[in-house]
Order: sequence, then structure tokens, then C-alpha cells
Amino acid sequence: MSAIQTLATAHWDLQDLSAAQRAQALAVVEDGGVLCLSDLPLPGLEELRWLLDPKWADPRHKNISYEPADRSLRGLLGDAAVHEAAQRLVGGFHASAMELVAALAPGYAAGMRGAAASLRLQQVEGRTTSWRKDDSRLHIDAFPSRPNRGERILRVFRNINPNAKPRVWRVGEPFADVAQRFRSRVPPYRRWQAAALHRLGVTKSLRSPYDHIMMHLHDLMKADLDYQRNCPQQTVPFAPGSTWVCFSDQTSHAVMSGQFMLEQTLHPAVAVMQAPAKAPISVLEALWQRPLA
Ligand SMILES: [Fe+2]
Repeated sequence: MSAIQTLATAHWDLQDLSAAQRAQALAVVEDGGVLCLSDLPLPGLEELRWLLDPKWADPRHKNISYEPADRSLRGLLGDAAVHEAAQRLVGGFHASAMELVAALAPGYAAGMRGAAASLRLQQVEGRTTSWRKDDSRLHIDAFPSRPNRGERILRVFRNINPNAKPRVWRVGEPFADVAQRFRSRVPPYRRWQAAALHRLGVTKSLRSPYDHIMMHLHDLMKADLDYQRNCPQQTVPFAPGSTWVCFSDQTSHAVMSGQFMLEQTLHPAVAVMQAPAKAPISVLEALWQRPLA
């Protein structure tokens, strides 16, 4: 199973860890494990407790997203005071998450694209959705409309539940095992199909063979109920106040319960990883025995 490692640190810049400890923690993440940091402060949360209410979430959006470049928010209802409070909360988390990643993986700065942060106010349990969108089924993240040709999806999460409620995940088997298991069920890539999807506007750019395989792995995992029940897995509760980091395009994960979370997404290039051979694209290229980007 994928590793879960917990580190007790009170510093987002990991100043209390040696370089060797940081490199080892990064190796856990690049191996597809989950790095959990238990004691990182997030000041100001108590005064913003009133913001933790699903009534501020626009139901037309999956979550409230925050664009660091201009501090804009999408999917948030309420007046200017609500927006100002959300900017403070999510903006503060964004700055801390960036500090954490810079300390954990200094090499990433040479080739990492930033992305939005998000504030999730909805309760996980009871969300009704199609099987493909059901994140309570084990899956790896793959974007249906935004092909990424192997670029990584690194995520920093923070449980900000004020009522002592954990955010509960299931974490499944290593990526190489997932890929090996479903490989024979992934249909061949057809360039004309990818071109048609692009022409129709289903994808924002041409889906590469890598994106094709990742989308199919995502769907094959979620559609297979026997796999969902019986594959190697562990249940992992993340307590309020805990922060965790993983590559969600690699770590098999399912979100089972919880409410109120902050999340920051980053996109490091494969080339800047400590061990590029661990990236999904490297694993898939070895298995398919050809270039996939
Ligand atoms: Fe996911």
C-alpha cells in the first residue's frame, strides 16, 4: 500500500528538519505516499469561523476557488465583507502552502506552474453524483478537459473543521500496481479521436496518449466495484488542524467524509522532480514501452 508518513512540525518552512529529513519526506511524496504534517499553525481561523458555512458556497460551482495572482474568488456568495474574509483565509493558506512546498522541494521552483487554491465548505457525505464524478471511489486525478501531457498534480490540503470532525480518506495501492492491473483494459489511443474531442471543445488542447491512459485508469478504477471493495487500501482520518501533501495524479485516493477544507494545487514539471522515474508518465512509458506525451 502507499505510505502515510506523519511529521510533527510547527514551521511551514520546515526549519526544524534537516536537509536529509526533508529529502526523505519528499521521497515519500514522490513515491506516491501521503505526507501528513500535524502541527502547522493557521492563525486567524478562530475569528473567521463564521465563514465556515455552506451558505456562502454558490451551488453552481464545485468549490470556491482563489486565484493567487489577483486574489479573485469564484463560486463565493455574500457581500464584500465575506469576500474580504475569504481572501484573508485562503490567501493566508496559499502563502503558507507555497512556503511548505519551497522548503520540501526546493528544486521544484525551476519548473512549477501555480494553480488556484480552493475553499471547500460542503459536507462530503451525501453528495449525489454520477459514478465518474464520485470521489468516494478510489481514483487518481486526471482532468477530462485539460490535457497535461505528464505534468504533475501536487496538492496541499488542510482540514479546517471547527467541530473536531476528521476528513477521512481511503488510500489505495501504489500507482505502478494500478497501472499494471488495468493496463489490458485501456483501449488503444486514436489520434483522430483525440482530434475530434479537441474540435468539439471537449478538451482544451489535444489529448496525448498519456492523458488518454490516465483518463481511462481514473474511469476503470471508479467503475469497478469489486476493485473498490477488495483492492489493497487503508482508511486514513486527517484530524482538524492537520495538513497533508500528495501527488493526486499518482496516489490512489477516495474522500469518504468530512467538511471544511483548504486546498492548494501546483503543477511541477516531471524534469524538476527529485526522482523523475517515479512520475506516472515514466511508469506508464515503461509499461507501454513507448513515449506517451
Ligand atoms: Fe481526487
